[in-house]
Amino acid sequence: MAEPRFAVVAEGLRKRYGDTEALAGLDLRVPAGTVHGLLGPNGAGKTTAVRILTTLARPDGGTARVAGHDVVREARAVRGRIGLVGQHAAVDEILGGRQNLVMFGRLYHLGAARARRRADELLERFRLADAAGKAVGEYSGGMRRRLDLAASMILAPPVLFLDEPTTGLDPRARNEVWDAIRALVDGGTTVLLTTQYLEEADRLAAGISVIDRGRVIAEGTPDQLKKRLGGDRIEVALDDPGSLTAAAEIVGRVASGGVDVDAEALRIGAPVSGRAAALTEAVRALDDAGVKVADIGLRRPTLDEVFLHLTDKEEVSS
Ligand SMILES: Nc1ncnc2c1ncn2[C@@H]1O[C@H](COP(=O)(O)OP(=O)(O)O)[C@@H](O)[C@H]1O
Ligand SMILES: [Mg+2]
Repeated sequence: MAEPRFAVVAEGLRKRYGDTEALAGLDLRVPAGTVHGLLGPNGAGKTTAVRILTTLARPDGGTARVAGHDVVREARAVRGRIGLVGQHAAVDEILGGRQNLVMFGRLYHLGAARARRRADELLERFRLADAAGKAVGEYSGGMRRRLDLAASMILAPPVLFLDEPTTGLDPRARNEVWDAIRALVDGGTTVLLTTQYLEEADRLAAGISVIDRGRVIAEGTPDQLKKRLGGDRIEVALDDPGSLTAAAEIVGRVASGGVDVDAEALRIGAPVSGRAAALTEAVRALDDAGVKVADIGLRRPTLDEVFLHLTDKEEVSS
């Protein structure tokens, strides 16, 4: 069978736990061979979606196909084509990294020689060969996550699900895991990853679905989403309350959207589109007007602001 164009297609997925509507009609399309980010805050329904797509839970409504097979009617076929790295590691802490991978290989019915060969390949690929004999209990967080990834790749599944692969990792370990994920996709694997971090989706994903309360509230490439959000923000901190009005007026001239004035903290913020130009113009205009600035800079919108913005929009349109 030819590989389907979309590795994951979900339409109107619903799942309820008691009074909680974990999924309220989730739609998703992941082109084969790409990384897709499912971005959302705690409780948005990310794990529930992953559990349904990996056949661990049944939807109450809607349909989903993974690698061309229906997750309910063809659950076995789906299971043979996917890997899953959940929020909690499945590896044994007492065993060494290599022993863990060989054990998984045997569980997947590889012969002893093939299981050993596959373990060595994967240790090499995830840069764990030097730590192959070390007990996993002594691995760093990043090494452990890479071992989780390696274990999920023993059968080289075409579609891999990663549920918050870097939550709890320090920045360096996070980078190592990102590199490992990029290497997988270079090898042709389709990756659906959930994350609470805009930056992570931004760095890795070709497409992003922002989800909240069990539904997709925005989707697109990282650039498209950032444009929708008005790009970066300019932030100005002042010393003198008397200059607040003049400063707000100047920031308003370079802004691409509404100006937020925090009179108590003496801070002014606004979205801008042309990064450097807006900053230069603001600095110059503030200086010309004799406004004394304590601090001025550009920053990315936080995930909180992204969600606020998106949910505001949604309420206006519905
Ligand atoms: N097994 C369960 N029993 C009851 N409620 C659940 C269960 N799993 C998830 N939920 C609820 O469904 C919602 C979505 O949860 P989840 O999919 O885990 O979100 P996320 O992974 O985005 O944090 C949350 O309100 C959560 O409390
Ligand atoms: Mg979760």
